[in-house]
Amino acid sequence: MLTIALPKSRLLDRVAELADARGLAIGAALRAAGRALVIEAGGLRLLLLKDADVPVYVEQGIAACGIAGLDQVLERDADVLRLLRLPFGHCRLCLIAPDGEPRGRDGGPLVIASKYPVLAARLAAERGRQAQVIPLAGSVELAARLGLADYVVDLVETGRTLRENGLHPVEEWLRVAPYLIANRAAFFMRRDEIRALRRTLGGES
Ligand code: PRP
Repeated sequence: MLTIALPKSRLLDRVAELADARGLAIGAALRAAGRALVIEAGGLRLLLLKDADVPVYVEQGIAACGIAGLDQVLERDADVLRLLRLPFGHCRLCLIAPDGEPRGRDGGPLVIASKYPVLAARLAAERGRQAQVIPLAGSVELAARLGLADYVVDLVETGRTLRENGLHPVEEWLRVAPYLIANRAAFFMRRDEIRALRRTLGGES
């Protein structure tokens, strides 16, 4: 039985909907899971993890495959295979500033709050910008609004969170989507099972 790492976030409902629609019945079992962290459904062993931990379990081979956003894969610098881009949850990782006058210190580094400290620093450096990144765990929009940082680097999907918090995107730094990812060794040792999973989720069979 393949072990698949799934994110417990709002992505989970969309993953379950897609899997159910493609004939991989896991939705009912997930809804009934309660606080269980491992369940079996659709012929798979499913691990229910924090989004950021999915690439870790897959890279280490505890799970053969997983569903993880590109943001989490890059933030962890995880050495995993990206097998399939999923058809939902597409969003943008943006440099975000408060509405009104642009902030920033002349000649100094950008002070950026982010849930993605590694990725934010890397993307800033790729743009030739010096950045001081303040790592936060969530609700990062507040940091720019209340002056903890001049900017935020965060995901923008509908834009609602920005609008409701008096912020706007200044630059788009990365297109992000969830992917079916696989452990490199597992992909070769369990090639048929993993390819079948990719075909099913991709609507090819
Ligand atoms: C994500 C992201 C933004 C929001 C963007 O946060 O960090 O805050 O969604 O979505 P929107 O453009 O559709 O409003 P999440 O809901 O995962 O919560 P968190 O900030 O507590 O991590």
